Amino acid sequence: MDKKLELLEQKIAEAKLGGGENRIASQHKKGKLTARERLHFLLDEGSFEEIGMLVTHRCDDFGMQEQIFLGDGVVTGYGTIHGRLVYVFAQDFTVFGGSLSETHAEKICKIMDLAMKNGAPVIGLNDSGGARIQEGVNSLGGYADIFYRNVRSSGVIPQISAIMGPCAGGAVYSPAMTDFTIMVEHTSYMFVTGPNVVKTVTNEEVTSEELGGAHTHATKSGVTHLTAVNGLDCLEKIKRLLSYVPQNCEEKTPRLPFELGDELRPQLTDIIPENANQPYDMREVIGGIVDEDSFFEIHEEWAENIVVGFARLAGRSIGIVGNQPVSMAGVLDVNSSRKGARFVRFCDCFNIPLLVLEDVPGFLPGTDQEWNGIIVNGAKLLYAFCEATVPRVTVITRKAYGGAYDVMNSKHIGADMNFAWPSAEIAVMGAKGASEIIFKKEIESADDPAAMLAEKEREYQETFANPYRAAQRGFIDEVIDPKDTRRKLIKAFAMLENKVVERPKRKHGNIPL
Ligand code: HXC
Repeated sequence: MDKKLELLEQKIAEAKLGGGENRIASQHKKGKLTARERLHFLLDEGSFEEIGMLVTHRCDDFGMQEQIFLGDGVVTGYGTIHGRLVYVFAQDFTVFGGSLSETHAEKICKIMDLAMKNGAPVIGLNDSGGARIQEGVNSLGGYADIFYRNVRSSGVIPQISAIMGPCAGGAVYSPAMTDFTIMVEHTSYMFVTGPNVVKTVTNEEVTSEELGGAHTHATKSGVTHLTAVNGLDCLEKIKRLLSYVPQNCEEKTPRLPFELGDELRPQLTDIIPENANQPYDMREVIGGIVDEDSFFEIHEEWAENIVVGFARLAGRSIGIVGNQPVSMAGVLDVNSSRKGARFVRFCDCFNIPLLVLEDVPGFLPGTDQEWNGIIVNGAKLLYAFCEATVPRVTVITRKAYGGAYDVMNSKHIGADMNFAWPSAEIAVMGAKGASEIIFKKEIESADDPAAMLAEKEREYQETFANPYRAAQRGFIDEVIDPKDTRRKLIKAFAMLENKVVERPKRKHGNIPL
């Protein structure tokens, strides 16, 4: 028998076992699951159907013809999660470091194409050393084929990337173009160039973990949306994430059975502190509004001055964007604007209604912010809200100051229903700053400038720092009792369920990137 065929038969047996004992052991030793184990735990039992198990690489250079592995380092196919169809690929690090060959790329492209035609999510379980070095431009072309499909699929079907081992070079750009990235702590990392190249080029000494570990990307760069303590936790989080998201852009959001009961939530009444400068945790407000334990936070550790995530309200998925007073008083800065904008756009792509909880003192001043482009980055959030056509509801809990009032889903930029709590302050700026500017002369010439400032602050506070001026103009639809917020929101979102917005004819908008 031809030597190549003999090898093939041997490898078929190995592939069925899950990749061969030694290769399995090599993954386990690193604290990682094998590609097949990952798929086993991700998908509903018995639902996986593999596509392309017999595919092998076509490389004849560097003795590669002697090293044939069936499947060529990636397991691809389809299955179900909670009964819903998904397309999957899982890279096998034990085969040439999970590196991407021409055929490996073709297998991924095949399931991406099927996913697009059939309107179902693609989940990539990444564990790869990047382009397969022995294949040169063939592997680079393979990456480009995947990138092209990532972009064609963007906004049509959800794309989720789990990073479950190293992800170097080209391997990071496909995840970056998908909707969500989730990294496993301590066993995964993502970087364009690894520590050795960094040392050569910049003379910096840095470990892989510091350069591109899960903690780094969850806290410093925001590259990962979620982290997981291990492989199993990662797969569970993917399943949870998918439970909030429709199969494609034509579908409505998933809905759990729900019966209306007593929807008053007295605990919402006491959250806002007496002193307007004291912080409180917006997550408490969220917890008091949404269905029990349904909040699933995204980007939890990055740009903490804004909170974003999915939840269920009366059984239906919604996306929440909330300013977070416990972090930098909830101010909008470069990163929080980017974080909010990305989330709003995802929700808008996939018909997930948006709830905005607003308590924002404005945009963060300073050279750091200006030089890092707060203008263009703040504009991203503004743009994202302006273009969103999903049902959009705002609740102003406290401050809505300055440009941030406009940006945070105001009526003027297309929000459908805007509520305010009696504690809301809707003004150009805080009372102290405003009084110091407009009453400058009176304060300076007063016998007691401090007392005069205090009096003017009070005057300003009474005139503007409340929700009633805005409500008189119709910019606020109703000033509501905090404990009634959940009930009001359930009714508002139900009322908006069939919202349709005609968009102007154009190729696409030009969001300030
Ligand atoms: C071929 C590769 C490979 C690759 C790893 N291997 N990466 N084979 N092409 N890109 C092989 C190794 O030779 C080794 O084979 C096995 O996989 C395991 O690799 P190790 O180095 O032993 O594992 P580990 O110590 O865990 O290190 C993992 C790693 C490292 C960090 C991923 O292997 C690495 O740095 N690889 C190269 C990363 C890289 O620079 N890739 C190219 C990027 S360029 P044996 O037979 O010994 O087990 C690129 C361009 C795309 O991607 C551009 C698109 C925009």
